[in-house]
Amino acid sequence: MNKQELKNKILEAKKATDTVILAHTYQEPDIIDIADVTGDSFFLSKKAAELKAKRVVMCGVRFMAESVKILSPETETILPVAAATCPMAEQIAPERVRKFKEENPDTEVVAYINTTAALKAECDVCVTSSSAIKIVKKLDADEILFIPDQHLGSFVQKSVPEKKLIFWDGYCPVHAQLTKEDVLKCKAEHPDAVFAVHPESPKEVVELADMVGATSEIISYAKAQKGKVIIGTERGVVDYLAINEENGDRFIQLAPEKLCCEDMKKITLEDVYKAIIGEGGEKIELDEDLRKKALKSINRMLELG
Ligand code: 13P
Ligand code: SF4
Repeated sequence: MNKQELKNKILEAKKATDTVILAHTYQEPDIIDIADVTGDSFFLSKKAAELKAKRVVMCGVRFMAESVKILSPETETILPVAAATCPMAEQIAPERVRKFKEENPDTEVVAYINTTAALKAECDVCVTSSSAIKIVKKLDADEILFIPDQHLGSFVQKSVPEKKLIFWDGYCPVHAQLTKEDVLKCKAEHPDAVFAVHPESPKEVVELADMVGATSEIISYAKAQKGKVIIGTERGVVDYLAINEENGDRFIQLAPEKLCCEDMKKITLEDVYKAIIGEGGEKIELDEDLRKKALKSINRMLELG
């Protein structure tokens, strides 16, 4: 079967089984092509809450599929490849957060959406990269434990100097590889380009940027520019812009050898097809108590963000 035939089979099976396919922008272009809804973490969370679909196949990483299940427990939620996980989401044991809260009852715990459901259940509120600053500003506490991404945390701290953020030593293994030298080299090759970067990148990289933002914000910014834009995030964003925008070659991938999230690329069209017809993938199941606790943190994020 060629690729187009497989895509057609996916579209038929999707319709026949009343399945909605969600896909994060970092997915391969072929997956984006067959998805019903695409976007960044915040957009997909909002959509999952609104959809109330019977079945969802979540093309992304495990925490994204868990977010769908937390928000829509009645929805049968399938992650097409069980091994597609975000390494950052598991960089803290939930028990350590619980212990921290017992010892520091006045400190609010803010968890990046890139965390397991078990971690979300221990925190006070979730944030995404596009909503973090807005939400942290609105919290009552003066002291905040920000988990797990130290780089996003330090980016937020800069915009919210009135609060004291305590960081964990977590990081995204993809964005954290970026160096100042990568940026300077790319800027030297494209001296007329502006530079947009994801806040999961190290501080010295963020400092060189003309714009810092989440996936959706980088896309909007890049579209609005007339000339070249260096994109400092996962290469799916450049693939997306190259396909959907005119003059696609004006979007320059920063450090292409580094900015590829292998976990985000694990899902293939075959995996999606098998997940839809019930022959593959993992059905997400969550303990109901844990789900309700995690839901509180996500709902607070949706209210404040
Ligand atoms: P967004 O919140 O921008 O979608 O990012 C998700 C992610 O995994 C970034 O590495
Ligand atoms: Fe996780 Fe980083 Fe991959 Fe995003 S790019 S899913 S934060 S490892």
